[in-house]
Amino acid sequence: MRKNIVAGNWKMNTTLPEGIALAKAVNEALKNITPKCDVVIGVPFTHLASVNEVIDKSKLGLGAENCADHLSGAYTGEVSAPMVASTGANYVILGHSERRQYYGETSETLKTKVNLALENNLTPIFCIGEVLEERENNTYFDVVKKQIEEALFELPADKFGQIILAYEPVWAIGTGKTATDDQAEEMHAFIRGVIADKYGKEIADNTSILYGGSCKPSNAKALFAKPNVDGGLIGGASLDAESFMGIVTAFE
Ligand code: 13P
Repeated sequence: MRKNIVAGNWKMNTTLPEGIALAKAVNEALKNITPKCDVVIGVPFTHLASVNEVIDKSKLGLGAENCADHLSGAYTGEVSAPMVASTGANYVILGHSERRQYYGETSETLKTKVNLALENNLTPIFCIGEVLEERENNTYFDVVKKQIEEALFELPADKFGQIILAYEPVWAIGTGKTATDDQAEEMHAFIRGVIADKYGKEIADNTSILYGGSCKPSNAKALFAKPNVDGGLIGGASLDAESFMGIVTAFE
């Protein structure tokens, strides 16, 4: 069966010393408990190798927040999937709405990034989600379905089975406005149905679908109690070890 996962997305936050301290604090907190979920931190590229040195990878997974759509070569400023993997990271967040919105990432580039991640043994945490206008004009199911179809549905079943999905309604990211647990469940159940139609029920049932968007210790329990919500992708609340752990321990 699918795994429960709580993953932090630090975004463009923390200097290297701050990031190492935060990773150590999360690592330390995990020593004392057996969480009912896998725990991952997604950190800036500059932090990966150092953070890898200070965490117990059997208890805490490490991910990048992006990777390049090329393997190597003359792409100044880019960081490739093999480079990420060589730091010890085993996850990569792809298709975050901030990458789509501010850096023009399209389904076409994301398709390439997903393939390169998988070829380099990185588990993609693939983000999807509608903007407020699409929520309000009731096109959100179509929007999310299209995002999944365009970037992921050329994958063979065994490769698709390695993907973690994160539903992040853009209107809930960093706004303090969380989707209700019923709104999250409705979309997650829809996504699972879309996957089942393409790859069959078994793969759909085994796919972890995380919720992201103003997830906090105070609302995580209700969200995670929903049958199709398999954890969270956490922005702001992952920048404080205590609040992140409050979400990690929200699984009953
Ligand atoms: P917040 O938790 O800060 O709303 O961010 C969610 C997110 O974008 C995680 O990827």
